[in-house]
Order: sequence, then structure tokens, then C-alpha cells
Amino acid sequence: MNVGLKTQILPAGAASVATAARYLAAGGLVAFPTETVYGLGADATNAAAVARLYEAKGRPSFNPLIAHVRDIAAARQIARFDATAMALAEAFWPGPLTLVLPKTKDCAVADLATAGLDTIAIRLPAHPLAREILHAFGGPVVAPSANLSGHVSPTTAAHVQSDLAGRIDLIVDGGAVDVGVESTIVGCFDAPMLLRPGGLPRGEIERLLGRPLKQPPQDPDSGSGQPLAPGMLASHYAPRTRVRLDAASVAPGEALLAFGSNAVTGVDAAVAVMNLSAQADLGEAAANLFGYLRALDAIGARAIAVMPVPHHGLGEAINDRLRRAAAGRD
Ligand code: TXA
Ligand code: MG
Repeated sequence: MNVGLKTQILPAGAASVATAARYLAAGGLVAFPTETVYGLGADATNAAAVARLYEAKGRPSFNPLIAHVRDIAAARQIARFDATAMALAEAFWPGPLTLVLPKTKDCAVADLATAGLDTIAIRLPAHPLAREILHAFGGPVVAPSANLSGHVSPTTAAHVQSDLAGRIDLIVDGGAVDVGVESTIVGCFDAPMLLRPGGLPRGEIERLLGRPLKQPPQDPDSGSGQPLAPGMLASHYAPRTRVRLDAASVAPGEALLAFGSNAVTGVDAAVAVMNLSAQADLGEAAANLFGYLRALDAIGARAIAVMPVPHHGLGEAINDRLRRAAAGRD
């Protein structure tokens, strides 16, 4: 185990960017902000570093990682882009979109990072600190969300610290992230497929492509065959407290995660109330989602009752994460 490491925490700035690059080059584990959630980075070409990363997160090694790159040229060294993939990259990178593509023959990314698949997930993040670290380091950086496996993804450095202090080398603190849910993952197969709804709404992608994204042929959790997005287990985003969806009322002892300004019966009995967005703004709700789930989870309520959130735009990703949170953990 990595437990027992002294985890350094540095504020954003040129010195911490240089330190982050140095740690990555030495096989270290560095948490840094992206515009979606905080990532836990390791040198994608260093199998030992990638192994430490799986261990630090407690993540099963059959769940492959996203390689973060500094520009499209770097992405093309590790993955093969067809015309559709190029169009998506040019339209939406840097930004909250991950593309799953065939690996190139001389792809330098460690097999462990792609769980032995012949495809690789790639993303060019938009957060300035992430970009500076990628430029300073130079090579591809694998970065899952910087939380313990199964926990809610971190949207602040404090979240990272509470999950991973003592297990990783460095946390670069860039404040709260903008988007708040993970990147949208599109598999560039025969027809582009939505593998994970996320920070880039499906509608924007479909407008560019001029056709709907395909749905995965099977529920990733159905167990038969190999899931297309192996990490999309139902329980992936679970807090410890039970989560109750589509709540129209609050029971005594429950906490309420509200949305918009609709009235809910029993609010007075709630042990805590947090509103994802009183103005019913889905962007604001996405940015608040994981932090509020963590905060309400810490209260030890009987359950977290969640009001309905619309499904359009970023609502698709918000509802996906809420459904996973409600599925509970084994
Ligand atoms: O916004 C994000 O994407 C964040 C930030 C840090 O970049 N990262 C993130 O990584 O969410 P992670 O590891 O928590 O989720 C990556 C997902 C997993 O569900 C994994 O199974 C899937 O991407 N994935 C990775 N490689 C894949 C591949 N070759 N084919 C299909 N799915 C893949
Ligand atoms: Mg994750």
C-alpha cells in the first residue's frame, strides 16, 4: 500500500506546476484540477506508476484509465483518429469530452492503464492548471477522478485530501472546479456511441454530428460480455448514506437535496437542506452535485432525499450520477 506517504499540498502557480511535472516524471502520483473534477495523475507510460495509482485509489485494474494529453498532435501519437473523431476533437477540445479510439501500434501508454484493451480513452482538458502541468510534463498522463474507488468524485482539493491524503505524493489546489461532473465519453466505433453522459451535453455532440449518438447495446451492468465502459458500474458514485430519488416529500431524519423552487412537504423535519440550484440552473446544479452529496453524506442522516432534476442538457449526466449514488454499494 502507498499509505504513509507524506502528501504535499501546493497552491496553484508556476512553482507547483514545475513540482507536479517533476513528481510525474519520477513516477509519483499528483492530484490536480481539471474543469470537470479533480484527477489523480500518473505518467501513462510508466507501468509501475500506473500500478501505484490503481493501488492508491483501491481501483480494480480491469477498469481502464483516461490518458490526458497536451494537444491533438500528442493524442494522435497514441490513438488513431478517423474523420468523425477528428471533427469531435476539433470542435470540443480542449473540453469535457473523452474519446475512446483504437490505439496506435506504437502507443507508449502502459498496457495496465488500458486494462489490456486495444482501445484507449483520451481527453484534452480545458483547465489552465491541468494544461500547464501537461505541457510541463510533456507526455500523456493517466488521470482517473482523484477519489477512493467507489466514492463520489472530488470537486475541490479538500475532497481529494479527505480521500487520498497519505496515499499520494502531491495535491495542486486550483480551487473548486467549474463543471462538476466527469467528462462525456464517446466511443468512436463504426457509429459514435455515448458511453458515459457527462459535462458536455449529448445535444451539442449530436448537433455537430448531425445524427443521434448510439446507445451501448447492453446495460454495462448486465454482466454478460465485456462492458463497453468497464467503469460504469451501477454503484460507482455512491455515498455511504442511502439516497432516495424523485422525492416529493421529506421523512423525519432525512436530509434534502433540493432543486429549483418547488415546495416539498416535510421540509421542516429535514435534518439538513441543500439546494443544487434554487434558480433551476443545470450548470450550477452539476457544479454543486458532488460537493453537496459529500456534505450531506457527512451528516449521518437516515437517507438523502433528492428532488427530481430535469433530464435535458447537463441533466442527463446529473441524473446518471444520482442513479448510481442511489444504487448503493456492496
Ligand atoms: O472528467 C473526467 O473524465 C475525469 C477527469 C479527471 O479527467 N476522469 C475520470 O476518470 O472520470 P475515471 O477513471 O473516473 O473514469 C474513466 C472512465 C471509466 O468508466 C473507464 O471504464 C472508462 O472511462 N474507460 C477508460 N478507457 C476505456 C476504454 N478503452 N473503453 C471504454 N471505456 C473506457
Ligand atoms: Mg471516477
